[in-house]
Amino acid sequence: MKITVVGTGYVGLVTGTCFAETGIDVTCVDIDKKKVQMLLNGEVPIYEPGLDNLLARNLEKGRITFTTSLAKGIQGSDAVFIAVGTPPDEDGSADLKYVLGVAREIGQHMDDYKVIITKSTVPVGTSFKVKKAVQEELDKRKVDIPFDVASNPEFLKEGSAVDDFLKPDRIVVGIENDRAQKTMKRLYKPFLMNGHPLLFMDIFSSEMTKYAANSMLATKISFMNDIANLCELVGANVDLVRKGIGSDARIGNKFIYPGTGYGGSCFPKDVQALIRTADEHGHSLEVLKAVENVNYRQKSKLVEKIKGHLGTNLNGKQFGIWGLSFKPKTDDMREAPSLVIIEQLKAMGAQVRVYDPVAMEEAKHSLGETVVYAKDEYDACIEVDALILVTEWSEFRMPNFRILEKIMNQKLIFDGRNVYDPEEMRELGFQYYSIGRET
Ligand code: UGA
Repeated sequence: MKITVVGTGYVGLVTGTCFAETGIDVTCVDIDKKKVQMLLNGEVPIYEPGLDNLLARNLEKGRITFTTSLAKGIQGSDAVFIAVGTPPDEDGSADLKYVLGVAREIGQHMDDYKVIITKSTVPVGTSFKVKKAVQEELDKRKVDIPFDVASNPEFLKEGSAVDDFLKPDRIVVGIENDRAQKTMKRLYKPFLMNGHPLLFMDIFSSEMTKYAANSMLATKISFMNDIANLCELVGANVDLVRKGIGSDARIGNKFIYPGTGYGGSCFPKDVQALIRTADEHGHSLEVLKAVENVNYRQKSKLVEKIKGHLGTNLNGKQFGIWGLSFKPKTDDMREAPSLVIIEQLKAMGAQVRVYDPVAMEEAKHSLGETVVYAKDEYDACIEVDALILVTEWSEFRMPNFRILEKIMNQKLIFDGRNVYDPEEMRELGFQYYSIGRET
C-alpha cells in the first residue's frame, strides 16, 4: 500500500512515520522547503520522544520520503491524509483555508481512486467541504475519477505521541461506504494488536468525537481546578479529594490533576471552536463556556498567591521559573501558562529568571530578551525572592533544597503542580504555596 500525508507538523509527521513503521510506503508533503530538506536528512524539527529514531530507521529502509510537490506526492497513493494546520480565526472558529486548499490541489492532480482523509481537527461537516472542493476541481478538469472522503481524528498527546499512535486506545474513522472502510481497515490493521477497537461511524459523528473528547478532558481539568480553589477556602486538601473521587471507576483517576490551567495547541482551540459551532447552531454550550472561564482564571492563580504574599509592587523582586512548556516532555509553548505568569510578574515590575529542560529555544520566540535564560534549574534560582514551579518536568521532583536555600534570597516556593509535600516543605523551613492545599 502507499499513502500520502500532507502537512509535516506534529500530527502529520507522527502519522507518516508510524505508518512507515508498519511497512507501508509513505510520502509526506509539505510546502516548507527547508523543513522537507531537514526531514530528508533525518532531522526532526519538533521535540517528541522517540520520533527521531523512528524516522531515521524508516528513512534508511526507504519506507518514507518527503517532498514539496503534492502533485508528485499523491501519485499512486491509496489514501491521502490531510494533516495541515487549522489555526483559530479571530472569532475562535477553525480556519479551513489550508485544509480546503490541499483538497483543491488533490483534485487538480489525482488520477486514480483515493480515500481522502481529514486528520486535522476540523469542525463538524468539514469532510464534506473537502469532498466538494475535490469534486469541483475534478469537474473543472472534466474527468471522472472516483474518490471517497473519510474523517480520522487524532488522539495523540504531545510527549507520548509515538506510543499513542502505535498503541492507540481506539481509532475512530468516519466513512460513507464500504470501499473507504476496506482501505482504512487494511491501513490500521497493524495497530490493533492490543485489542483496542477500530470504530467506524458516520463522518459527522467522527468529527464530533474529536471535539467531544478534548472538551470532556478540558472539563475534567477545569472542574478540578475549581474544586481545588474551593478546597483552599474550606481547608480541604485537593490531593486527597482527587484520590477519593478518582477511585470511583465512573470518574477515573486520570486527568484530574489541578494546576495552572490547561494550555497547548489543542484544548484551548478546540473548546473555543466547539462553543462557536454550537452558537452557530443556536445552542449555547454553557458547561464549556464555564470551562473556558475557569481556565482563564486559573492561569493567574499563582500570581494571585504571589501578590497575597509579596504585595502588588514587585519592583526590585526577582523570580525563578521552573518549566516553560505547556506540559512536560514537549518544547511546545503554545498557550503555555508560564507566558501569562511571566507577563503578569513583569507588569508588576519583577525580574524573571527561567529554566526549562527543552523549551528554552522555543520560549525565546515569545519571551525575547525580557527574561534571563538560566543554564540550569539552580542557576534560575540565584538571588530570587521566590521559585515558581510552572511545569512538572520530572527533573524538578527532587531538587536539593539545601542548595536552593543557600542561593535564594527568600525561602519561598509557589508550586503550580503540587509536586512537593507541604509538610516536608515546612520541615525544611520553606514558605510554600501550592494549588488546593494548605499553605
Ligand atoms: C490533547 C489530548 O489529550 C489528546 O488526546 C489530543 O489528541 C490532543 O490534545 C490534540 O487534540 O491534538 P495535548 O494537548 O498534547 O493532548 O496535551 P495533554 O496531555 O492532554 O494536556 C493538556 C493540558 O492539560 C496541559 O496543559 C496539561 O498540563 C493539562 N492537564 C492535564 C492538567 O492540568 N491536569 C491533568 O490532570 C491533565
